[in-house]
Amino acid sequence: MANSSFLAACRRETTSYTPVWLMRQAGRYMEEYRKLRAQYDFLELCKKPDLAAEIAVTPVERLGVDAAILFADILLLLEPMGVGLEYKKDGGPVIHHTVSSRTHVEQLLEFDPKEALPFVFEVVRKTCAALDGKVPVIGFAAAPFTLASYLVEGGASRNYLKTKKLLYSNPGAWRGLMERLSSLTTKYLNAQIAAGVEAVQIFDSWAGCLSPDDYERFVLPYTRATITGLTSGIPVIHFSTGTSGFLKSLRAAGGDVIGVDWRVNLDTAWDELGHDVGIQGNLDPAALLASPKEIRRRVTEILTRAGGRPGHIFNLGHGVLPETPVENVAAMVQAVHELSSR
Ligand code: CP3
Repeated sequence: MANSSFLAACRRETTSYTPVWLMRQAGRYMEEYRKLRAQYDFLELCKKPDLAAEIAVTPVERLGVDAAILFADILLLLEPMGVGLEYKKDGGPVIHHTVSSRTHVEQLLEFDPKEALPFVFEVVRKTCAALDGKVPVIGFAAAPFTLASYLVEGGASRNYLKTKKLLYSNPGAWRGLMERLSSLTTKYLNAQIAAGVEAVQIFDSWAGCLSPDDYERFVLPYTRATITGLTSGIPVIHFSTGTSGFLKSLRAAGGDVIGVDWRVNLDTAWDELGHDVGIQGNLDPAALLASPKEIRRRVTEILTRAGGRPGHIFNLGHGVLPETPVENVAAMVQAVHELSSR
């Protein structure tokens, strides 16, 4: 069990400095990762536990972040469903058999994540062993909506029109799909917890495409069910982007810590959420393309807005951009630690 400022912040305990970690720390901005990617494709890397664990540990050693995230992908759960998951050369995911009807939902294969994705849990065990309690490992999965959006759209999307068409015009199929994804995600995360992760993050990366009413009606109940079923005592970070118009609903869906992006000021968001919940965020990833001096200025601004309250975890509002200079990421981590220590 890691003795960590990150876990303390999740529990809203006072910490000696604000912990920081990165959601796409293993991304293409790190040379170590790019080297491995020149030899293996992405799915292959996910299925090689020794290499995947090494990828997860590198940012802790190189950048001094306060938690490591499991090296995996939110879409790994789709492969055993039989829908045909592929990552194109540029890394963009493609799902070959998309879902647009109740029949399609019924055709999705049923499986136990423990049996279908044994390599993920092996990566968890190897990452925990390599870190040896130095910092905790965060497990993760997509929230049902974000996972459903990939199944319905077949990949990334700008407007989520197919997803919206399904939920507006075929609520029965939508409910069936979301119920399946919700219970599967709970099982998957509980298996990660059993393998050793000490916190989990639920990514609802694309929930911000919805109106507040649609979020409440078509998404909230299923995210809530996912979170309610999780092993108790393990902190849950509930992350999304573009959702500052319905923060209260996100909170109602659950999570000990709510992730917010840069489209809302951190103090405004925390007031809206209530100070009896933790908050994670919220530097614009593009800020890491600026000079270390400007990065420091922006870190100061976010820490000022957090006001030294317990329960703030510093992070970017979204993943690290591949073009980010690694020394700028290091400058950010250092600035957070230095400016928040007491
Ligand atoms: O920090 C880490 O790298 C930890 C592991 C991690 C990955 N994906 C590895 C990955 C995590 C936490 C994710 C989450 C994920 N995956 C999300 C939620 C976070 C977010 O960005 O909103 C989403 C939407 C996905 C789906 C996904 N996987 C996309 C859209 C892509 C393509 C391009 C991209 O990077 O945005 C991936 C591929 C992927 N997953 C890569 C990595 C390191 C890049 C693959 C490569 O090396 O080319």
